[in-house]
Amino acid sequence: MTAIPIPHIEQSPIPMNDLSLQHARLRAELDGAIREVVEGCSFILGPQVERFERAFADYCQVKHCVGVSSGTDALRLALQGCGVGEGDEVITTPLTFGATVEAIFQVGARPVFVDVDPDFFTLDPQRIDDALTARTRAIIPVHLYGQPADMGPLAELGKRRDIAIIEDAAQAHGARYDDQPVGGLGRVACFSFYPGKNLGAYGDAGGLTTDDDVLAERLRRLRNHGQAKGDKFNYIEVGGNHRMDGIQGAVLDVKLRYLDQWNAHRRALAGRYRKALCEVSAVQLPEEAPYAQHVYHLYVVCVPDRSDLAADLREQAIESGVQYPHPLHLTPAFASLGYGVGDFPHCERVCSQLLSLPMFPDMTFEQVDRVAEAITRHYA
Ligand SMILES: Cc1ncc(COP(=O)(O)O)c(C=O)c1O
Repeated sequence: MTAIPIPHIEQSPIPMNDLSLQHARLRAELDGAIREVVEGCSFILGPQVERFERAFADYCQVKHCVGVSSGTDALRLALQGCGVGEGDEVITTPLTFGATVEAIFQVGARPVFVDVDPDFFTLDPQRIDDALTARTRAIIPVHLYGQPADMGPLAELGKRRDIAIIEDAAQAHGARYDDQPVGGLGRVACFSFYPGKNLGAYGDAGGLTTDDDVLAERLRRLRNHGQAKGDKFNYIEVGGNHRMDGIQGAVLDVKLRYLDQWNAHRRALAGRYRKALCEVSAVQLPEEAPYAQHVYHLYVVCVPDRSDLAADLREQAIESGVQYPHPLHLTPAFASLGYGVGDFPHCERVCSQLLSLPMFPDMTFEQVDRVAEAITRHYA
């Protein structure tokens, strides 16, 4: 498709994400919360982390939240906590951030990929039967880009076959499945609070949510070198240092109060994109699944000429991204699994066509209109 040349006019850049306005607005609150950590010398775990854990557990409508050092560590601890290890198989999607699969390797288990749904880009439960074996111990559905995976059939399968369902909710804080928040839809859920996420810290941080009292206690132990509760230096099992910092707990506790408001604006921006672009037939817009309340961590479209469109947008000072260009089964790190081109055609098609457009809570409708106009012109 050839683009109609556009006269070059100086325009203010539209980034993929911009946290600076949010931080400026919350500065007094955040400074106060951080000062409390410093004055109390509660740098690692401590009261601010505990306060956030309680608030986030309530938010997810579960009994427990365990604050950890990153989303990647959360995934690893979830697997370890559910007893997944050497010789076990874990089913997941090839369309995700590498950490989902990395964690499976880290506990000594083998990832088994299942293709995604072609409309919603999340793990397709209809295809799971073929991948199940006697060694399947866990399934990690990923709530990709803010859209919950189809959890109903997975939860049912998990119960029937005694398989742990571990939500990768790193991109979906506040998303809902049949009106129930993610975080309580499986045995345990893993969140990332990486700064750019819908709920982001001031550095690396992560969390696990669960209703299972025994698992929660084990996760608390594992994040802190496997030490017994109330009995320091008594190592019950091999754990590690996966603790959340006090400053991250304090920042997250403040920001959590705004999460629903930010997610509502993301949804409104997505609605504006849809209205502006629904007539552009070359662009496949993100579809909200009938069971889902999507929180648009990313606004990802599929187009036939990604590099051309991205270059055209760049010319007009509009940033875009590609999450993710490589199907995980075709990357060198995971080649040992023995998959090849054509094994997961929906994932491969999506990876070759997807493009993330600007999306952040302080984005304006005018900015969405400018992005949409640039795309419309590109395909005119
Ligand atoms: C789907 C998914 N899983 C896991 C992670 C890992 O989280 P973290 O960067 O906090 O380790 C991320 C982070 O981008 C993610 O997007």
